[in-house]
Amino acid sequence: MNKGIAIYPGSFDPPTNGHLDLIERGAKIFEELVVAILRNSEKSPMFSVAERMEMLRTLTGHLKNVRIDMFGGLMVEYAKSMEAVCVLRGIRAVSDYEYELQMALLNRKLEPTLETVFMMPADKYSYVSSRLVREVAEAGGPVRGLVPEVVEQKLREKLDPAYKLQGVHEITEVPRQVPRKEVARRRKTKP
Ligand code: PNS
Repeated sequence: MNKGIAIYPGSFDPPTNGHLDLIERGAKIFEELVVAILRNSEKSPMFSVAERMEMLRTLTGHLKNVRIDMFGGLMVEYAKSMEAVCVLRGIRAVSDYEYELQMALLNRKLEPTLETVFMMPADKYSYVSSRLVREVAEAGGPVRGLVPEVVEQKLREKLDPAYKLQGVHEITEVPRQVPRKEVARRRKTKP
């Protein structure tokens, strides 16, 4: 186990199974892991920071060396204030690499003593992202297996009634009602 605090920063809007997988892996190799949610006033998030903190606290309750926090401003400044030695980030596919490399190198420029460590989530989560989860849920699609049950429930509460569409795979044809006036008219005109 590595000594010292590691920060796992992100938006977590909402937390996914991929995030949780990475937190569990990180918790095994760092003495203490702080999952830090960015307070970003520019984006309009689906979940408030308080909601995201609550979800993450519930999801990581079983991990004794994991703490949930939030931060604003520069991540390196926050990491310094926490006396963190390391930043943890997940890489799912090659497409993540360019952005993550850019961020890691810029963070190194800002704070040369802070190392970034990349970990890969389980391959079954390699296509899962918060953005796609939001998109599927907003369109009323099922997100089971992509997010933990707690998050699925929160999405359902937030997006109901669109979420009620989940599980509707067949469209049942409803017989059209003939208005009474029309029935009477047809009776009259019957030969
Ligand atoms: O989950 P995300 O949205 O990919 O996380 C991105 C995050 C929060 C790690 C990144 O945007 C960040 O660290 N923002 C804080 C501001 C900052 O330090 N920017 C410079 C990073 S190069």
